[in-house]
Amino acid sequence: MMNVIIETQRLLLRTFTEEDALLIYDLNLDPEVTRYTHDPVRDINHAKEILEKVVLPQYALYNHGRWAVHLKPSLEFLGWCGLKYRPEEDEIDLGYRFKKEYWGKGYATEAAAASIKYGFKKLNLYAIVGRAEPENLASLAVLEKCGMTYIGEGEVDGYRAKTYEILNPEFPG
Ligand SMILES: CC(C)(COP(=O)(O)OP(=O)(O)OC[C@H]1O[C@@H](n2cnc3c(N)ncnc32)[C@H](O)[C@@H]1OP(=O)(O)O)[C@@H](O)C(=O)NCCC(=O)NCCS
Repeated sequence: MMNVIIETQRLLLRTFTEEDALLIYDLNLDPEVTRYTHDPVRDINHAKEILEKVVLPQYALYNHGRWAVHLKPSLEFLGWCGLKYRPEEDEIDLGYRFKKEYWGKGYATEAAAASIKYGFKKLNLYAIVGRAEPENLASLAVLEKCGMTYIGEGEVDGYRAKTYEILNPEFPG
């Protein structure tokens, strides 16, 4: 049973479960997918660890997280998209990662825009940020197409990053 959080025209976003290690493993195995994220997966146990230590705890702690994205109506797994709290900066980060065969069809933009809307309308968040390396043109295009505003470039976790932000027009709602 899928715990669907968001439905868009073409996509379903659902919470990951501990059964999904193979999906994460498969996604992160492609060096082009982790080219700008610098987090290649070592083996299935590593994928399990990412799920159990990073992805799943977010749901219970913050009521949001990274969600698995599936295509309707076949329910193929495309990748993930969603929100993540970053305590270092006390901010909510928008992120996305899709299997290469599904790039260039607008799926990231569709999932990201829906995640922002969910964050504002359902979670009443004040602001959401997005970051990408200056060379990651596809990711920067997604942030821009979601209506985010460029606020500056700097070093984050040892890599150059451009930061974007969007504010909730209805805050405090
Ligand atoms: C970033 C990513 C999620 C984009 O997914 P996607 O579904 O292809 O995104 P969309 O189709 O919604 O939009 C991509 C946009 O980038 C543009 N784009 C793609 N490659 C580009 C390039 N090399 N130069 C310029 N623009 C590019 C596309 O033309 C499209 O814009 P358009 O609709 O205006 O034409 C996907 O490339 C990915 O999973 N990359 C690996 C993981 C990653 O880097 N995640 C982001 C970390 S910050």
